[in-house]
Amino acid sequence: MKRFLTPADLGDLRKALEDAKSVKNNPYADQALGRNKTLLLIFFNSSLRTRLSSQRAGFNLGMNVIVLDINNDGWKLETEFGVVMDGDKPEHIREAVPVMGQYCDIIGVRSFARFESKEDDYSEKILNQFIELSGKPVISLESATRHPLQAFADLITIEEYKTKPRPKVVLTWAPHPRALPQAVPNSFVEWMKIADVDLVVTHPEGYDLAPEFMEGVTYEPNQQKAFEGADFIYAKNWASFNQYGQILSKDRSWTVDEAKMALTNNAKFMHCLPVRRNMIVTDGVIESPNSIVVQEAANRVVSAQVVLKRMLQTIAEAYD
Ligand code: CP
Repeated sequence: MKRFLTPADLGDLRKALEDAKSVKNNPYADQALGRNKTLLLIFFNSSLRTRLSSQRAGFNLGMNVIVLDINNDGWKLETEFGVVMDGDKPEHIREAVPVMGQYCDIIGVRSFARFESKEDDYSEKILNQFIELSGKPVISLESATRHPLQAFADLITIEEYKTKPRPKVVLTWAPHPRALPQAVPNSFVEWMKIADVDLVVTHPEGYDLAPEFMEGVTYEPNQQKAFEGADFIYAKNWASFNQYGQILSKDRSWTVDEAKMALTNNAKFMHCLPVRRNMIVTDGVIESPNSIVVQEAANRVVSAQVVLKRMLQTIAEAYD
């Protein structure tokens, strides 16, 4: 495995879920695989879970881990081509990335949508520089359009908590004071579409996700109707795709509350975190026994470890 951006990079999802179970049951079984191997984690944006869970996954596999907060600890990077670099950015990404590749065996990158240009974001302008120039396997730690480690952890969590073979899973938009990227809902939809679940997406008018993600997905404009009989409620805010990066609504009637959860089949509540209480979800719902947000976050170590293990196996095979 040389990159991890989409579920297709994992191949058979059933097998990946079996691997997740085995990693969770025996997290230190593959310590020898990562010996003398270095994981470099590059963050263009803030993180709690991704940063700590990826480090922990690397440690579990016996790896050395280096973390770089590029905005605060590195030179400010120029990412445009053909510019005269007479401003405040002393280093170009096209030198910085191949240099970073010299110091590691696997590289993880977090680079959110900037909302300056839909074309730049949806062509993954920053992440693709790492794929093209680092010379190393690349893991998305949330890029402009996808958050695959989160979606894989979400699927692992649904597998653990489902009470029927094919649960109803509802992705609901919820209000937020700031414009947030579509990476989490895009990946969630992308993964759930191919999982053994019945997926329903609900959001206010104007919040359609990109067509390539929504193709073939059931959309229900009425949030309460969508919640009926649901086994899992996955809440998330995102900014508009069509009116790119804009906030069209802060309507708190979309907040997930106890009355809406009562319409479900005793659904579990999920969110990738961090979450704004009483905007996205009420205190009562997130504090309830049906909230599995912490268990979901715990599975971020598992998803990262499965991916790292496969990359380390690919590296080991190359030297066989
Ligand atoms: N869910 C998630 O990716 O959390 P962080 O932004 O804290 O890494």
